[in-house]
Amino acid sequence: MNSLSIFAFFCAISVAAASKAYPSVPGLDSGDCSFTGDETTLVPPRREVYDDGKIYDISHRYVPTLPVWDSEEGLGHFLWLAYSIKNGSRANGSAMQIGAHTGTHVDAPGHFYDNYYDAGFDVDSLDLRLLNGLTLLVDVPRVSNITAEVMKSLNIPKGVKRVLFRTLNTDRRLMFKKEFDTSYVGFLEDGAKWLVENTDIKLVGVDYLSAAAYVHSVESHLVFLESREIILVEGLKLDGVPTGLYSLNCLPLRLVGSEASPIRCILKE
Ligand SMILES: *[C@@H]1O[C@H](CO)[C@@H](O)[C@H](O)[C@H]1NC(C)=O
Ligand SMILES: *[C@@H]1O[C@H](CO)[C@@H](O)[C@H](O)[C@H]1NC(C)=O
Ligand SMILES: *[C@@H]1O[C@H](CO)[C@@H](O)[C@H](O)[C@H]1NC(C)=O
Repeated sequence: MNSLSIFAFFCAISVAAASKAYPSVPGLDSGDCSFTGDETTLVPPRREVYDDGKIYDISHRYVPTLPVWDSEEGLGHFLWLAYSIKNGSRANGSAMQIGAHTGTHVDAPGHFYDNYYDAGFDVDSLDLRLLNGLTLLVDVPRVSNITAEVMKSLNIPKGVKRVLFRTLNTDRRLMFKKEFDTSYVGFLEDGAKWLVENTDIKLVGVDYLSAAAYVHSVESHLVFLESREIILVEGLKLDGVPTGLYSLNCLPLRLVGSEASPIRCILKE
């Protein structure tokens, strides 16, 4: 409910029941149900954290300055009113156009394997049980890309299935800069191999547009996606979230035939 409908809801109650059945709602018990706030008091809430860390929103907002792979321009104008109240319609209706790998998104196996793509391993085939569950958020040493050596040093115990890797990308606020930056930190091929061969990690979350470092953008993706058991969640917003264990909820759109989808992810304490 937005604040207007909450107002209407309480207002209806206080009119219907002028009794002692429940405590009065401060400010709304006058019986006057005309909405008195002027337009400027309608401020939409926008949150990153709820209730002091009970929920962290770790998806990025879709804004024109969101960086886009290999582009200087960023996302740009991607959302418009297809019809609008000001133009005589009864309602406002927006339309949009974005690449499926825009912003915080998930990759399906078909992204780098044509045979998987043809066989239908799209985002609709991804396992929701893997996209939702106990997750470890770790800080990666800021001095290098994610190599086998770095993976080893992180000491992630067997049994951990989901890991979000926070890197230098977060410190550099790369997801907030519209120019795509090839120097972002990601997995080198040997780091990806080490993860596949030595850990139980099946969900890999990263804080820029690709899990693979730019120099190994093909190689590392091939290593991750070959088994069709690993899900890559890319472009996460991990600023200000303490490291540790969380319950992760990630929900992609059911884009049949697409090897990627925007995804909404939250961490719960
Ligand atoms: C409806 O569309 C108008 C433009 O015609 C815009 O100014 C207004 O903010 C829109 N309202 C909502 C609720 O989006
Ligand atoms: C309203 O309609 C005019 C004329 O078709 C169009 O140029 C304008 O972009 C529309 N504006 C909105 C907010 O839909
Ligand atoms: C990570 O690799 C990229 C190339 O993909 C490179 O430009 C960057 O400097 C490396 N980052 C670190 C911290 O070594």
